[in-house]
Amino acid sequence: MTHLLEADQRTVVVTGASDGIGAAACLQLARAGHRVVVVGRSLDKTKAVAAQVGTEEWFTADFAKLDDVRRLADKLRATCPRIDALCNNAGGMFTGPVRTVDGFERTFQVDYLAGFLLTHLLLDVLLESKGSVVNTSSVGARMFGQLDLNNLNHFDDYASDRAYGDAKLAEIMFAAALHQRYGSQGLAAVAFHPGVIATNFASNAGGFMRWAYQSIGRHFMPKPAKGGAVLVHFALGMPGRDWESGRYYNNHRRIGRTNPQAADQALIDGLWDRSMGMLGLDG
Ligand SMILES: NC(=O)c1ccc[n+]([C@@H]2O[C@H](COP(=O)([O-])OP(=O)(O)OC[C@H]3O[C@@H](n4cnc5c(N)ncnc54)[C@H](OP(=O)(O)O)[C@@H]3O)[C@@H](O)[C@H]2O)c1
Repeated sequence: MTHLLEADQRTVVVTGASDGIGAAACLQLARAGHRVVVVGRSLDKTKAVAAQVGTEEWFTADFAKLDDVRRLADKLRATCPRIDALCNNAGGMFTGPVRTVDGFERTFQVDYLAGFLLTHLLLDVLLESKGSVVNTSSVGARMFGQLDLNNLNHFDDYASDRAYGDAKLAEIMFAAALHQRYGSQGLAAVAFHPGVIATNFASNAGGFMRWAYQSIGRHFMPKPAKGGAVLVHFALGMPGRDWESGRYYNNHRRIGRTNPQAADQALIDGLWDRSMGMLGLDG
């Protein structure tokens, strides 16, 4: 573990940190001497990662329950007077459609809407900290996404890949919208693809993606540390020097090609308004 001067130490909150890319990123951040807050869903898995990371700062929340996200935000506000990076990393590709207790489709909620809510509930802390919001998106946004503001939940035409692609595209648009609205106040936001990484990803998806990630294919994929390092690059990087706020990056840490819809300003604004309305947020 590196010992950093207090002025150099960042506070980084990572969701989806109980496994895969998030867990690997937490380990790397802690080894580099930063303050890491580990957020997972399962109590046992999250505790185990926190122990490995060497922190007692861990919380659990099931993003399929927005009240869990609200409670998580309260706990983070109580324990973190500053947050230098909020990494919205929780997510995956899931079977469906599944209606959550909040009335939204699970993939849309877990991959996108819950992170949108968490970010808003921490917005004043992030602004005060001149922090960054780092969204783990995916090439899936380009491969499968086709966002329709009138069909964000896909209850009647659900397909795992389309739902995933839409949610990951929404995360890219959310980063752009945050930059447009709050960039002048010092908040930065970015979305990135971590690479095709051997994790638990798609273990609940069925079909080709589950087969690709959870059988022989995974032996040819890089280990979680590689995806974690990409997340760490954005969490610790200085916006304006290491990356440009509001943009989407590929796993080579370069501005990436994504779905053309990501540049549609009317869609970016429409998604923001719909999301605020769905969550009963003002602004
Ligand atoms: N692996 C890839 O090739 C790849 C490629 C592109 C993008 N991504 C993205 O990278 C991020 C991390 O995924 P990963 O590959 O590391 O997969 P992973 O090993 O399955 O980790 C996913 C993390 O998200 C958490 N999560 C899942 N459902 C949740 C819920 N309802 N509430 C709260 N947390 C929940 C998981 O918690 P549990 O431990 O409880 O399951 C876990 O901590 C995801 O956003 C994924 O879409 C991955």
